[in-house]
Amino acid sequence: MGTPSMRPEMRVAPSILSADFGSLSDAVALVAPGSDWLHVDVMDGHFVPNLTIGPPVVSSLRDHTDLFFDTHLMITDPDRYLEAFRDAGSDGCTVHVEVGGTQALIDQMRDLGLRVGLAANPDTPFEALEPYLDQVDLILCMTVFPGFGGQSFIAEVMPKVHQVRRAVSDAGLSVDIEVDGGIDEHTVVEAARSGANVFVAGSAVFGRPHPLEAAGDILRAAVGSVAGDPP
Ligand code: DX5
Ligand code: ZN
Repeated sequence: MGTPSMRPEMRVAPSILSADFGSLSDAVALVAPGSDWLHVDVMDGHFVPNLTIGPPVVSSLRDHTDLFFDTHLMITDPDRYLEAFRDAGSDGCTVHVEVGGTQALIDQMRDLGLRVGLAANPDTPFEALEPYLDQVDLILCMTVFPGFGGQSFIAEVMPKVHQVRRAVSDAGLSVDIEVDGGIDEHTVVEAARSGANVFVAGSAVFGRPHPLEAAGDILRAAVGSVAGDPP
């Protein structure tokens, strides 16, 4: 038996933000065979300058798929809505460290039985995340400023991804590291090499003629980019 690997499973999480909102269940069915997670972007027009969806849409989608719902809350008051998302069928919720009250939000998510995620904007330093690494299941390092799909990948975030991966590995923690924004079959290579293992992709999946194949290409590029590296 070899040495157990510390590298968690690589996953692609298509973001429905770039799907056709008029036929979301069809979009989800299209990518489901090649994805384990579905990334659900929730925006409140306050934390970010855009509005998207809320618990009723999550609840409707829940009837159509068993995919893990990775719910990214880009909202100012997540404490008011966490229970509603859990009841609607969210499996995991991710709150932004920039909204404050992080410890209470983590405790609330745990109490609700949600998988716990903590997100940081591109210009939020590693030190803001560090105190919570042993309490979360997922760290989301935004690789664009949140609010819109289709933006360009900010490579300057990679040192932070590497810092998070090193810190969780050194501490023997099992924490997923997710990147979100501008991820495609090219940028995913640098993100995977920096230590990310969950790759959100919106326009590079639903903006392509063949979303299922596009999601597969992103995952293959990620897995291939670290093949042969030490864990
Ligand atoms: C951005 C959202 C992302 C978005 C990514 O605020 O959090 O999840 O859907 O879209 P792409 O992959 O097009 O950058
Ligand atoms: Zn997102």
